[in-house]
Amino acid sequence: AAGADTLADHGEVLNIAHRGASGHAPEETMPAFDKAVDLNADYLELDAQLTADGRLVAFHDTKVDRTTDGSGPLSDYTLKELKKLDAGTWFNEKYPYRAKTAFEGAQVPTLRELFEKYGTDQKYYIEIKSPGENPGLTKKLVNLVEEYDLVEADSIVIQSFVQDSLQKAHELNPEIPLVQLIWFHPKGYEAGAPLKEWKKVTPAPNAVSVSDFNAVDEYAVGIGTNMHYKDRQVIDAAFVDTARRAGLGVHVYTIDSMARMQRLIDWGVTGIFTNFPDRLNAVRAR
Ligand code: G3P
Ligand code: CA
Repeated sequence: AAGADTLADHGEVLNIAHRGASGHAPEETMPAFDKAVDLNADYLELDAQLTADGRLVAFHDTKVDRTTDGSGPLSDYTLKELKKLDAGTWFNEKYPYRAKTAFEGAQVPTLRELFEKYGTDQKYYIEIKSPGENPGLTKKLVNLVEEYDLVEADSIVIQSFVQDSLQKAHELNPEIPLVQLIWFHPKGYEAGAPLKEWKKVTPAPNAVSVSDFNAVDEYAVGIGTNMHYKDRQVIDAAFVDTARRAGLGVHVYTIDSMARMQRLIDWGVTGIFTNFPDRLNAVRAR
């Protein structure tokens, strides 16, 4: 599959800055993305959603309440209205020991602003977030990625929990490397998890077989998975090995513990999402 060489067999575990370097700066704002670039993260991870007037923005939640001074659904805000919100002060209040005056008044960035700022030198790992609440998101994202020549530059991965959205992206442009996100519960998938095809065949992580992974390999170059549910470990070395033998990259979210990073590297994972890219670089340098 497209991008498989770099994503599934690139030698060193990829350092994927989760929502930017969001341990250091307010998630999915320019300060967080700038920090991730400064820390030499391999990819800027972000969640793509649409404003009320159909603009692509980097934002995680479906409501603006947690990470801005506004309230209500993101999809109620036009870009102009969204730009007036302060997406940085909450971080200073929640993490006073990491607070910076420069974070005050940070704005929600558009994807276009990010691509204009960092160009194709930087790699982006973009999630199709909540496609049910963002109609048209997949096509708009693929179009924008093509407009900025990110596929030719090998500067893009698109990820989603929603299989339909990934398959649609694959139909629109089969050259885009795609990652199927999954989320394991110790007893199988959490009720309501969107990946119904996997839910049918995977009562528990240790029951996932090579043929299950082969189905994902039809459209994706890798999987992205959690490592723990609360304090229960939900994947192990055998799981990683099964996925790797099916030719898939294995990227694990969201790991801030250096001990866990080391364990995952020992298992042979090919990428790690972290809020602290500096910690993963330190582990990689050992
Ligand atoms: O995209 C990987 C990881 O970011 C999934 O979790 O909720 O942080 O988007 P979330
Ligand atoms: Ca994400």
